[in-house]
Amino acid sequence: MTNKTSNQMWGGRFAAGPDAIMEAINASIGFDKRLAAQDIEGSRAHTAMLASTGILSDKDAEAIREGLLTVLSEIEGGSFEFSTALEDIHMNVEARLKAIIGEPAGRLHTGRSRNDQVATDFKLWVRDQLDAFEEALVTLIHAFLGQAEQGADWVMPGFTHLQTAQPVTWGHHMMAYVEMFGRDLSRVRDARARMNESPLGAAALAGTSFPIDRDMTAKELGFDRPAANSLDAVSDRDFALEFLNTASICAMHLSRLAEELVIWSSAQFRFVALSDRFSTGSSIMPQKKNPDAAELIRAKIGRIFGANVALMTVMKGLPLTYSKDMQEDKEQVFDAADNLMLALAAMNGMVRDMSANRESLEAAAGSGFSTATDLADWLVRVLGLPFREAHHITGALVAMAEAKGCDLPELSLADMQSVHGEISESVYDVLGVHNSVASRTSYGGTSPVRVREQIARWKEALK
Ligand code: ARG
Repeated sequence: MTNKTSNQMWGGRFAAGPDAIMEAINASIGFDKRLAAQDIEGSRAHTAMLASTGILSDKDAEAIREGLLTVLSEIEGGSFEFSTALEDIHMNVEARLKAIIGEPAGRLHTGRSRNDQVATDFKLWVRDQLDAFEEALVTLIHAFLGQAEQGADWVMPGFTHLQTAQPVTWGHHMMAYVEMFGRDLSRVRDARARMNESPLGAAALAGTSFPIDRDMTAKELGFDRPAANSLDAVSDRDFALEFLNTASICAMHLSRLAEELVIWSSAQFRFVALSDRFSTGSSIMPQKKNPDAAELIRAKIGRIFGANVALMTVMKGLPLTYSKDMQEDKEQVFDAADNLMLALAAMNGMVRDMSANRESLEAAAGSGFSTATDLADWLVRVLGLPFREAHHITGALVAMAEAKGCDLPELSLADMQSVHGEISESVYDVLGVHNSVASRTSYGGTSPVRVREQIARWKEALK
């Protein structure tokens, strides 16, 4: 639909309306309607400030503020008719305000531009997302703490190269994710603190000659202070990028975890059973229980990385200050935020519901010569051998066990002594997986004692 008349907001110098294709490429209302509540909140704060500084009469300000609430209730109630011809949420709201309250609506935009307006709206929206992100992370971390507490001393294989390396505890593995999502949490908090400066009042780019009070609007909107440089304020999208960067790192963590859950829930591993609530069946193979939620989390992460790269690419070539390119910021952030929140919620449900199979974990922990390092350490500690020599002797014993088709603890003492004559009975103490994990008491190590300390530390930190 081509708009035959020129735009009512800026049509003064235009004789004709835009071509239909121009309207299609230019309009953002299809997606920026999600900023409606923030747009109205920002306009109400701006209006209150215009009245308090005497730029607007109290009467007009009151009419505008009331009218904006009516517009908000129309939008929330679903009766609002969004118009593509009015480009974006800012002009849709203002046009409707004019229809409701008449002439005073035209005074709302005094001392302001859509450039500082959109930066403010979008920042408020991203700030809300960071708050929701923070809450979801805390919830997820608690889910891991619950798992870690239950199985603080359960043994399982620890892997490098996905090959059995050394026995570790289930609690230790769960707490590794607590550290990862804990760093995400601190990144969210950092980003929120850094972004919390108000662009409102930067106007188009240079500030305004009206005696506005930027501290007042900043305070009203919950910002710590007004942004100090008007050129930067209207052209900065770091807050959106920091959200996407932080979301990307968190998404990478979610994806690694999803991958582990897919592997662990397989018939070959049987480390965990995922609940029916977060699994699906197969239409043809009755025995199947598929970890679809984990797979979809692993896949959705690509959209979040994509959004991060897309917005970095949009921004990298832009001269100061605002360019219309920046309108492309929103869809990327909206999509990334939606998928991040969904992935976090699904992961939280899966982790809370999953049950670790203690027997399978323990059986796997002892296989694959997982205590070979303990044996080498014993040769160093008890026989005083250099580690390199101990490593060599242990390698020979592993080869012997492999040839006999048994595990290290099943080799007889005579077998052991055929490789090194001084090996004694006490070596068997370190070959058991429970002794192995209990011995790793260095700070950050896998011993249940250390794991329980970390659980307590995190519980305290999250209070
Ligand atoms: N819809 C626009 C955006 O999302 C609002 C700002 C328009 N500003 C301008 N100078 N054309 O960026």
